[in-house]
Amino acid sequence: MAKNKTVFICQECGYESSGWLGKCPACSKWNTFAEERQESNTHASAWQPAQSKPVSLEEIKTDSEQRSHTGMKEFDRVLGGGVVRGSLILVGGDPGIGKSTLLLQICDTLKTDAGILYISGEESASQIKLRADRLNVKRRDLFIVSASNFEAISAMILAEKPGLVIIDSIQTIYTDTISSAPGSVSQVREVTAALMKMAKSTGITVIIVGHVTKEGAIAGPRVLEHMVDTVLYFEGDRHLSYRILRTVKNRFGSTNEIGVFEMRDTGLAEISNPSEMMLSGRQENVPGSVVVSSLEGTRPMLIEIQSLVCPTNFGVPRRMATGLDYNRLTMLMAVLEKRVGLQLYNYDAYVNVVGGIKLDEPACDLGIAAAVASSFKNMPVDAGCVLTGEVGLTGEVRAVSQVEKRISEAMRLGFRKIIIPEGNMKLAGQMKNRGQFGIIAVSNIQEALEIIFESA
Ligand code: TYD
Ligand code: MG
Repeated sequence: MAKNKTVFICQECGYESSGWLGKCPACSKWNTFAEERQESNTHASAWQPAQSKPVSLEEIKTDSEQRSHTGMKEFDRVLGGGVVRGSLILVGGDPGIGKSTLLLQICDTLKTDAGILYISGEESASQIKLRADRLNVKRRDLFIVSASNFEAISAMILAEKPGLVIIDSIQTIYTDTISSAPGSVSQVREVTAALMKMAKSTGITVIIVGHVTKEGAIAGPRVLEHMVDTVLYFEGDRHLSYRILRTVKNRFGSTNEIGVFEMRDTGLAEISNPSEMMLSGRQENVPGSVVVSSLEGTRPMLIEIQSLVCPTNFGVPRRMATGLDYNRLTMLMAVLEKRVGLQLYNYDAYVNVVGGIKLDEPACDLGIAAAVASSFKNMPVDAGCVLTGEVGLTGEVRAVSQVEKRISEAMRLGFRKIIIPEGNMKLAGQMKNRGQFGIIAVSNIQEALEIIFESA
């Protein structure tokens, strides 16, 4: 008989150890180990005779990928064009961000071969009904059940044979085969593995909700991310109404695609024009405000960056970056000091990306540097101008990807000109129907700042 051993498992990353540890050697997090019983060794790599024999690539028959549209273009875009039949999708996000709302909403419009089974371990059926009424979800073949035992759930799924199963949330579901508490790494891993097998063998699509820890990882397990087909994160500032759905992993499409939504009192509304929303309420022609073009997946977004530079009152100047990388900001300020000669060393600098967006594209460098310079010189940047370009340590402005898309977006939103890197000029120069729209190429940051501030 197998011995019942206990192991200590890091609840962040799933690292196993025979004794308790204060700090996880794998992910370096403190105080994350919990004792769990190691059950019969089902995962041991016992050699099993192959049940299926290898087939040559040519002979494999496939039905072409069957996708169904969710009825929300933003959601489809994130998935790479709709939900793939028989896939396992994980939707992660902070509590209260709107995961349950989003999934209940797509139930109304998603096309499936059979009904939808919505399993909630968090809310009662009547609570979900109340929410559905509020969201105006009226699907006939949507079945709601409040359950958390996996054996009961799987029996239900096999009996009902729905087209889609939604599990809200994976942390509340437990299987009897494991004695650890619901939400522990072993439980979450076991249940997800079972769901994956079920999805693949029956062709039922499964969407699971996963909570996110304070640190922002899906609770428990990065292990989980490896197991599922698609990982989506639902993020946004709780104090602001818009939400961003982001692909982190996708076996059926590109990653880094985003969908933008707004939380209203009638549920989530799609925002197909995020740039317009980000730029609304912008004060024009004030020093320190600059519009940059950032590419989120395949979609260009125009975003305002604000900066405030003022003399330091204490010995060490303060630098603060909200929505962008702090180290990137200090690097750009060092470039401004050394290559342009702006004496920023006894000035505080606060830089903020408007709307709570996080920018990590190097193409925003030129805009960030211009915002700092604009506030420092107390000279506004032309409100009709968009900036794009990566800044290197020697002050050179380097080419960015997909410049045509960025230019088109700036033109569409009524801007008058764009400053781009010299390296992109060849492609940009071939663009047709530019009309009065100005495209200005710069090769280094001094040149860019001269152009910006002479016209202002
Ligand atoms: P919810 O979907 O329950 O979040 P999660 O499942 O990610 O924990 O969203 C709850 C929040 O959304 C709650 O704070 C209220 C807000 N909300 C609206 O603003 N409008 C609505 O129509 C609904 C249903 C929720
Ligand atoms: Mg919820």
